[in-house]
Formats: sequence, C-alpha cells, structure tokens
Amino acid sequence: MQLATSIEELRAWRRGAPPTLGFVPTMGALHEGHLDLARFARSQNAAVVASVFVNPLQFGEGEDLARYPRDLAGDREKLAATGVDLLFAPEAQEIYPHGFSTTIDVGSVGEGYEGALRPGHFRGVATVVGKLLHLVAPHRLYVGQKDAQQSAVLRKLVRDLAYDCTVTIVPTVRETDGLAMSSRNIYLDERERHAAPSLHRMLRRFLELVKTGEPLEIARTKASTVLEAPGALDYLACVDAESFEPLQALRSNAFVIAAARFGRTRLLDNLWFPQ
Ligand code: PAJ
Repeated sequence: MQLATSIEELRAWRRGAPPTLGFVPTMGALHEGHLDLARFARSQNAAVVASVFVNPLQFGEGEDLARYPRDLAGDREKLAATGVDLLFAPEAQEIYPHGFSTTIDVGSVGEGYEGALRPGHFRGVATVVGKLLHLVAPHRLYVGQKDAQQSAVLRKLVRDLAYDCTVTIVPTVRETDGLAMSSRNIYLDERERHAAPSLHRMLRRFLELVKTGEPLEIARTKASTVLEAPGALDYLACVDAESFEPLQALRSNAFVIAAARFGRTRLLDNLWFPQ
C-alpha cells in the first residue's frame, strides 16, 4: 500500500487512472466498522483509496478534536491488510491552507438532529468530503449506515454537485452485545460501556412499537425507559431516509435514529426501515 500525505502525491497516483476506484474516507483510529467499508470497496473496484484525516472543520468548540484518538501506524497496517492501494493521510494545512474559506452547505438535510446539536458539523463534513471527492475522483464512495444523517448529507452533496460517483451505504458493524462500533467507544468507562448497548435495544423497542401502529409520542416514552443510566437521551425519532425530515408515523425508507450521552461521550445509532 502506498502512502500519500500531499495533494501532489495523491494526484500523481491518480494519473494512473484505475478503471474503477472505490474511496473510503475516515478519521482514523480504525475499527472493524471502517475495515468492513474498505473490504466492501476492495470487492467491488480495481483499486481502493482510503483517507485518514481528523477534520478540524467538523468539530465544534469544546468538542473532542484535541483528544480524538490517533493511531496512524496502526491504521496503515490495518488498511494494508484489507488490500487498500493508497492511503491519503494529509496534515490539516494541506487540506486547509492559510486563508482557506470556501465551504459547502447542503441545507436542510443537515440541519436537524446532529446538525442542530452540533452547529456547523455537517458543513465541515460536506466541505472535507467535497474536497476529497474532487481530489480522489472515485467511481464509488463508501460510507457507513452508523452515521445515517451523514450518509444522507453526503448523498445530497454528490447529487447536487454532480460528482461522477455512486454512494454505497454499508450496514453498521456491531460488538457482540449490539453496541455500534465507534472510534469514540474507547472513551467509555466501565459503567458507561455496560449501559451503552441499551441504546441499540431502545431503538429496536421503538421500531417494534411504531411498526405495530403505536403513536410516536407514546412509543418514544415507552422505548426510552430501555435506555440505562448513565445514558441521557438527546433524541429518539423517526425520519425520512433521504431528507431527514421528521415523520409522524412509520413509512417505507425511514430511519429510526437515536443519540444519547454516556458521561462526556455522545453515541449515535439507528435502524433502517426499508418498507
Ligand atoms: P469516521 O467516524 O472515522 O467514520 C468513517 C466511516 O466509517 C463513515 O462512513 C462511518 O459511517 C463509517 N463507520 C463508522 N463506524 C461504523 C460501523 N460501526 N459500521 C459501519 N461503518 C462505520 O465519519 C467520519 O469519520 C467523518 O465524518 C468523515 C466522513 C471521514 C469526514 O471527515
């Protein structure tokens, strides 16, 4: 696997023009969820590029940018083992040189839920992925269902700006107790880690209830009792999978989504309801 840290090196590699190129953007500290995306991309393309870049633009003030886990040596080994061809791992000033000011705002799909709780977050995500897509110019982009709203934001970005690539959403990889894998799970202390899988159980209960026609508010009240202390609920909702507009009743192509705080760590999860 080749490593590129500059745009110039990436462009030189890209001139080799693989017939099909898959791209997996990440912020590193890689776990099986990330590697599943890379393996999926590997199975569908002649070549695969992964990026590791902790994107300062998507972190708000007081968020965990400084303490976000970093392990480039470990990430390199893991990506090489999955058969990734090129790892792009730039420094912040390579992506955001002095005076950088152009950003991408995808509008309402990024305004509720995570967007409301983390102002500017999806502008940061759309801007960096927009720039990376432009540089890597892949045929296929791979993103995780784990971050459902981010996936919807990136699908909108690709559609609106007419990037010549498809977006593949890969199902969430979980620990055996149901907790969705996340680079942030390592922040959890023992009590928080023990309670964290109840987020997934709460979502399953919520989906069961709304499927049987239980009114949303009642389903939310009943299901939220499944969340174990010290978990504190931020939201539990049913949304349209494309627009992320709230739904008042379950219908096809919806997500049930939830976020909760466990101490200082916010965890997200969702379930897809295709029909
Ligand atoms: P990061 O949190 O590192 O995640 C990179 C990709 O891995 C995302 O598409 C995410 O949805 C996916 N992923 C994370 N956990 C997963 C799991 N348990 N199962 C399946 N896929 C999982 O998301 C970001 O980075 C950034 O916002 C990024 C898109 C790279 C832009 O900076």
